[in-house]
This record gives sequence, C-alpha cells and structure tokens, in this order.
Amino acid sequence: MDPVLVKRSFAAVEPHGPVVAEYFYQHLFEHNPGVRGLFAEHLGEQQDRLFAALGALVTHLEDTDTVVGLLRDLGARHARYGALAEHFPAVGASLLATLAHYAGDAWTPEAEAAWTAVYGVVSDTMGAALTEARSV
Ligand code: HEM
Repeated sequence: MDPVLVKRSFAAVEPHGPVVAEYFYQHLFEHNPGVRGLFAEHLGEQQDRLFAALGALVTHLEDTDTVVGLLRDLGARHARYGALAEHFPAVGASLLATLAHYAGDAWTPEAEAAWTAVYGVVSDTMGAALTEARSV
C-alpha cells in the first residue's frame, strides 16, 4: 500500500467539505436501508465525525501504533452503536464510492487499490475490537 496515494486522494476530496459526508451517508442508506435505524434521525455532527476520524487515520497512516490504537478505541465504541463486524463491507463500499466521486484525477486504479488495502486494515482492526467489546 502506497501511503502517498492515500494521502493525495484524501487531500483531493477534503476541499469539497460537508457534501462529501452527505454523499457517503446517502449512498450507504440507499444501498443498505437496514442500517439507517442505527443512526440518529438527524445526522448533524455525526457526518463530520466520520470524515474527521478518517482524516486522523490518514494523517497517522505511517505510525502503526497510533493508527491501531485509534481504530481499536473507535471499534470498541461502535459496540454501543449497534454496529456489527458484518456492516463493515457496506461502509467500505460506500466510502470507496464517495472517494471515487470526489477525488477527481487523484482517483486512479492504484489509489483505489491503496484505499482497499487501508480499509481492510480499518475493518479488521475495528471489527476485532468491536467483537471483543460486545462479548464482555
Ligand atoms: C471506516 C469505518 C468507520 C469509521 C471511521 C467510523 C467513525 C465513526 C465516528 C468517528 C463516530 C462518532 C462517535 C465516536 O467517535 O465514537 C461514529 C459513530 C457511529 N458509527 Fe461509525 N465509523 C465507521 C464504521 C461504522 C460502521 C461499519 C457502522 C455500522 C453500520 C457504524 C455506525 C455508527 C453509528 C450507528 C454511530 C453513532 C451515530 C449516532 O449517534 O447517530 N460506523 N462512527
């Protein structure tokens, strides 16, 4: 995975602002109506939080200890939101669709492969912490 490709494509998406998160949730709920009920009716701040969390991950991408710590904490908190490990592929698909939509020329097959690898680590690490938190 090339961190430069991940950082460059995320930097191309960020200036689009709040519409990015709106697009993501619209995509997620349209394709997975069953998860809508897990979220508050008015997403409000939640929209910004997901992309703020992604921004932190991208910033620390090469600092494995920090990234794993962030992801484990985030994953454990998701046990309280009713999220399940099996929801992660749907979120990943909507995330990649959103990045593809807004990253412009920075969205290349190589960038897509790099994000797929990053999201694999995100969902494995968050999913494991979530499953552990649910079983205590
Ligand atoms: C890339 C993976 C994900 C990231 C970065 C992420 C990020 C976040 C963040 C930052 C929050 C705000 C609260 C907190 O910090 O604890 C949050 C809340 C939440 N997330 Fe996630 N999340 C991810 C995956 C998922 C998945 C797979 C689900 C399951 C459908 C999910 C469902 C929720 C729900 C239901 C809330 C609470 C929203 C509310 O209060 O209405 N998330 N997420």
